[in-house]
Amino acid sequence: MIYKIARRNPNLCRFCGICRDAVSCPTELFSEDCIGCKACYLACPYGAIEMVPHERKRLIEILIDREIYFVPEKITVSDALEFAGFPISSAPCGVGGCFACAVMIDSETKLACVTEAVEGMQIDTVEKGGPMRVVSGFAPHLVGGVGTPYALKSRMRPVEVACFLHGCNYRCPQCQNHVMAFTGGVAMTPETTAEMLVRMKGMYQVERVAFSGGECTLNRKFLIESIKHLKRIDKGVRIHVDTNGSLLTSDYIDELVDAGMTDIGIDLKALSLDTFTRITAVSKDAERYLKTAWNAVKYILDNHDIFVGIGIPYNQALTSSEEIGAMGKEIAQMSTDVQVSLLDYRPAFKRRDLTIPTAAEMADMKNILNATGLNNVIAQTGEGYIGP
Ligand code: SF4
Ligand code: SF4
Ligand code: FES
Repeated sequence: MIYKIARRNPNLCRFCGICRDAVSCPTELFSEDCIGCKACYLACPYGAIEMVPHERKRLIEILIDREIYFVPEKITVSDALEFAGFPISSAPCGVGGCFACAVMIDSETKLACVTEAVEGMQIDTVEKGGPMRVVSGFAPHLVGGVGTPYALKSRMRPVEVACFLHGCNYRCPQCQNHVMAFTGGVAMTPETTAEMLVRMKGMYQVERVAFSGGECTLNRKFLIESIKHLKRIDKGVRIHVDTNGSLLTSDYIDELVDAGMTDIGIDLKALSLDTFTRITAVSKDAERYLKTAWNAVKYILDNHDIFVGIGIPYNQALTSSEEIGAMGKEIAQMSTDVQVSLLDYRPAFKRRDLTIPTAAEMADMKNILNATGLNNVIAQTGEGYIGP
């Protein structure tokens, strides 16, 4: 049976230390014991880690939901479950950040994506206990995110406090927040997360809190419970969810609004599948993610009375001006008043070769969007925001 293991390419490695310091390798980095979880491969900013084929000859015996199965040795619990016919459908981050793949292993909650399947292990696929998630960076935001109204962004003091949830289902090579998107860490409960946010909200005297990331919607139970707890301890709080929208089915949206979400920012990466794949580097689920995000915007605008902001990234190496115009036309058919934020994609992570779009370029893209009938377009530039 052929699986893949990680190898560092010394010619490409820049010794940044991320694989050593930010990735919780479940074995020993790049050793023969590698279980191919890919956590280091996804986190390396310089593409210096390759996944190379490696044969697994021996089978081990494990118990899944009290039945005996034989699976290859030195693979992850996710791979073992898949091998045995129990694929984890909700395992989107794969780096130990979102906790959506949590299962009970020998009576303890563990993450299937970064845990090794070992001889005699007892796996219970029904998770017991409450949801958890790796959360970091509770911080005040001066300008907020895509779901922050422009009128608030222009103030010279924080408009909200945000928490950043680790793990993402996209693999964007130009990710602007890659340490949170592609690493795990210590997990928190929804209650602790909500309490930290309310404490920070008081410290900075703001009315709003935000869930950002990484992709904050990955672990549905965690996000819903966090929002419900926020409303329990601070009834008047405005709650902003900053998301790529890829998992926001109508029932998930209804549940978020019922829980207490008041503002949402959805970052629509593209209109065409080609551009979407280039920006996100997602392959298998790209079509579903893209469709779900666009449907989510329409569903919210048609059915819910909450603040909606739409993000459109721009960099000429990734998106054409024609596609920006086509996105504008699609959005204008849903609403001409919705706030649309053009985001200048800068060199970052694995795409340090990108050139920062100039303020003039961003102004041109904004004009293209305005020409489609949209009248609430703002553009983020290196020189500050261009208002509607
Ligand atoms: S993350 Fe990549 S570039 Fe950085 S030290 Fe590890 S292998 Fe080298
Ligand atoms: S982080 Fe995962 S893929 Fe990388 S060396 Fe460790 S076990 Fe292998
Ligand atoms: S898929 Fe395992 S923690 Fe996200």
